Amino acid sequence: MIGRNDYCWCNSGKKWKKCHYPQLPEKKENEIDLKKTYLKRYGIIIKNQKQIEGIKAACKLAADILEEVCKEAKAGVTTQHLDDLAVSLHKKAGAIPAPLHYGEPPFPKSICTSVNEVICHGIPGQRILKEGDIVNIDITCILNGYYGDCSKMVVIGQATEGRQRVVDVAYESLMRSIAILKPGVLLSKIGEVIEDYAVPKGCSVVNQFVGHGVGVDFHEGPQIYHHKNKMHIPLVPGMIFTIEPMINEGVREAVIDPIDQWTARTKDGKASAQFEHTVLITEAGAEILTPWTR
Ligand code: MF3
Ligand code: CO
Ligand code: CO
Repeated sequence: MIGRNDYCWCNSGKKWKKCHYPQLPEKKENEIDLKKTYLKRYGIIIKNQKQIEGIKAACKLAADILEEVCKEAKAGVTTQHLDDLAVSLHKKAGAIPAPLHYGEPPFPKSICTSVNEVICHGIPGQRILKEGDIVNIDITCILNGYYGDCSKMVVIGQATEGRQRVVDVAYESLMRSIAILKPGVLLSKIGEVIEDYAVPKGCSVVNQFVGHGVGVDFHEGPQIYHHKNKMHIPLVPGMIFTIEPMINEGVREAVIDPIDQWTARTKDGKASAQFEHTVLITEAGAEILTPWTR
């Protein structure tokens, strides 16, 4: 029996695997090797077609719920009211809000609402939104066991120049980093694009919180850095992860609330903003799976 490394039967002088070895099985072997290597080496789950379909549905739902909740974010409304609405929208869709009871200590609510100087992981409560506030609303839903994760900012009325600037820079940072994604591009490029854009605008990029692989679980490998970094891992089709840059008006440092152990605020009390998409790497580039609009 002829082996892959034997000379081909056609007398070309080439090895069988480089010559008449059947194309399809060979490609499949390479794909399986790549999946194994990415999982072992980086903890990255390259998704199969069934997983991609499930994650797409969860992501679409997360984006739809995000849009609905953002419409309700107005002056005079509490962040608890937004959480209540999100809970009922999850129920109606047969989905579970992933944040509820997540982590240690268990996150107490179903969404994150991060106002002004809060960078991320703000807990909904009796705080009333008022004119000039900027708020990030972050929705992660579990649908049929699959996860979709996204967030965006709402500006309540007219904000100060500094607050509006972090909102605009955070949005641009996200969209510019998504635009460069395609197979072969290194993961480290994301943080480079973001920092090269945000810093000249007078902003800083948070480095204590990251984007993440997502879909089969809430937070999978790899970590996605939004600042300059050395994650020189090539993108491959089937990778699904979030990009969610947090952009500050002042210093980049975050301080976590010692009481609730979740709320992350800027060290200097200045404003912070964040937008988040879940993206799928395709042969052609990247597909945004959470199609909210700004
Ligand atoms: N949705 C957030 C993210 O983008 C994570 C929130 S964790 C929670 O990764 F426990 F605060 F919900
Ligand atoms: Co996320
Ligand atoms: Co999120």
